Amino acid sequence: MSSDSSHPTASDTSAASTWATGNTGAALLEITGVTKRFGGLPAVDNLTCAVRQGETLGIIGPNGAGKSTLIGLIGGSLVPTSGVIRFDGQDISHLAPHNRARIGIARTFQVAQPFVGLNVRENVIVGALFGRRNLSRAEAGRVADEVLEQVGMEQKAGYIGGQLTVADRKRLEVARALATSPRLLLLDEVMSGLTGNEVMQAVELIRRINRSGVTVIVVEHILRAIKGVSDRVLVIHHGAKIAEDLPDAVLSDPRVIEAYLGQRYAQQQKQASADQAQTDEWKGGLA
Ligand SMILES: Nc1ncnc2c1ncn2[C@@H]1O[C@H](COP(=O)(O)OP(=O)(O)OP(=O)(O)O)[C@@H](O)[C@H]1O
Ligand SMILES: [Mg+2]
Repeated sequence: MSSDSSHPTASDTSAASTWATGNTGAALLEITGVTKRFGGLPAVDNLTCAVRQGETLGIIGPNGAGKSTLIGLIGGSLVPTSGVIRFDGQDISHLAPHNRARIGIARTFQVAQPFVGLNVRENVIVGALFGRRNLSRAEAGRVADEVLEQVGMEQKAGYIGGQLTVADRKRLEVARALATSPRLLLLDEVMSGLTGNEVMQAVELIRRINRSGVTVIVVEHILRAIKGVSDRVLVIHHGAKIAEDLPDAVLSDPRVIEAYLGQRYAQQQKQASADQAQTDEWKGGLA
């Protein structure tokens, strides 16, 4: 969420609702009728949505819904089968990933992909060099130091692969993306596998990044994190949009509950009753 008064916040219901219902005012990213097929099956199916300069858009949906495919299409690792993606008015549908990085689009990967053999700081330096033209190695080093401080990893600059926790690897993904100096940051499940406390820290970090002026797209299954960071939420099911609105409206939408939340709640209920059965069994053993 941004402190920028020019974009809707949760308290600015009318502006956000207008935006959610299709007013494409100051869009930074416009996705129009985009389809991506893998061997005939659409992973993203005729999707249209827009992301406004300065906002944070959350994306949720069941496993296999097409969320990461959409991130790949925006980041450039995938090209659409049909449809158009515009960034700041420019058609980027077929632009190579490094050229997208240079105009300000950066992404993290759902499965963290640090360069093995390089330490944390060197990984971030590579990110800086990837995203910025004509940056000297010394300048890239300064960028890396700034970014590592921003994400709270300055003490771990010299760490390599095996020394990093899951949370460190996720933060390193974010740091490498930030080092490219993005205008649009795409975060694909950077909070999965984190503890409750680490999720809260990640939410704070994303808010800080957004407040610094970066537009953010967050793909996440952790709903309280989605609620904590998103100005609006887009819900995808079978590659198609089934809802796009303010977080509270989306999370109480019957279609979303049926397609996604019901499944999540059911999983949580199943886990809760398994825990209860285990407790009862222990109690029985003690009786
Ligand atoms: N490179 C690929 N080749 C073939 N099929 C793919 C490829 N990438 C994704 N798919 C398929 O496209 C569909 C959407 O996958 P995607 O990874 O985008 O889902 P997702 O919403 O990110 O799921 P999750 O929540 O599990 O990460 C799935 O059916 C998946 O198997
Ligand atoms: Mg995914």
